[in-house]
Amino acid sequence: MINILVSRAWPKEAENRLISQALGEVTLRHPDTPMTHKEWMEAAKRYEVIMPTVSDKIPAEFYPAAAGKVQVMANYGVGFNHIDIDAARDAGIAVTNTPDVLTDCTADLAMGLMLTAARRIGEGERELRAGKWIGWRPTHMIGKKVTGATLGIIGFGRIGQAMAKRAHFGFGMKVVFQDAWTVPDDIKAASGNATQLGSMPEVAAACDFLSLHCPGGADTYKMINADVFAAMKPGSILVNSARGDVIDEDALFAALDSGHLAAAGLDVYHNEPALDQRFQSYENLVLAPHLGSATNGTRAAMGHRAIDNLTAFLTGQTPSDLVS
Ligand code: DGY
Repeated sequence: MINILVSRAWPKEAENRLISQALGEVTLRHPDTPMTHKEWMEAAKRYEVIMPTVSDKIPAEFYPAAAGKVQVMANYGVGFNHIDIDAARDAGIAVTNTPDVLTDCTADLAMGLMLTAARRIGEGERELRAGKWIGWRPTHMIGKKVTGATLGIIGFGRIGQAMAKRAHFGFGMKVVFQDAWTVPDDIKAASGNATQLGSMPEVAAACDFLSLHCPGGADTYKMINADVFAAMKPGSILVNSARGDVIDEDALFAALDSGHLAAAGLDVYHNEPALDQRFQSYENLVLAPHLGSATNGTRAAMGHRAIDNLTAFLTGQTPSDLVS
């Protein structure tokens, strides 16, 4: 019988299904803490299947050590920048992920971050809870109007498109975007007649709100840098529900300090959860703790999707979400 390791606690419904499906001997690793380096190295020798998740820090030495033992990493999460895909391939380890099921919730959260940052809702709540609100007045906590503004989207995959739909059909926003692939006309039309522009600075210059929906990893590392901030219109707002390492955080703080960037709504960070201390000092930052997919239905669906992929792999079929 094969051994299956789930690296973090999952919603009960998904854990129960994994056990009842009897694909192998399942280890549900509780309590819910990150696996240590030692645990990863032991896992390399003990499990045929590892079901990691997006917050796992997998040591580089794990992959060569796991060669010949670990057959598949059925990831719980759509993002897989925490897995070294080349090293996994070299070690003969297949990798799957869980797209689709978290698209709506991640786009919902991005809308929430945009609205909260634009309308200063977090800042207002802090003022009210501190007992500092002195009442309605014409000049109090003036924000930025969302309805009718232009939204720029970087990365026009499933979540970028879902964000475009919400922004256009819900808030009458004009949508411009950048992506490496040429997006077909029917997708652009269905996404609120979104317009594809040639480059990221062009999108940055054309929009009032810039929302990031690209993958993390080497190709996009610190891609939102000082040049992109400089290209943005003064008073723009940035939203990131993609990956923290896409933003150069020094450049972000500089853009906030100069006032060029009015605010930002962020769900993801470099080195999360150990955030740069500077984040704490900006009232105009909306800071969520990586909540994009955090709803009951979605987190269970992610588990089911990972199990579906594993089942396919173990029964000799091609998993529908085979990354490598
Ligand atoms: C993912 O699946 O990549 C998300 O970041 C989790 O919310």
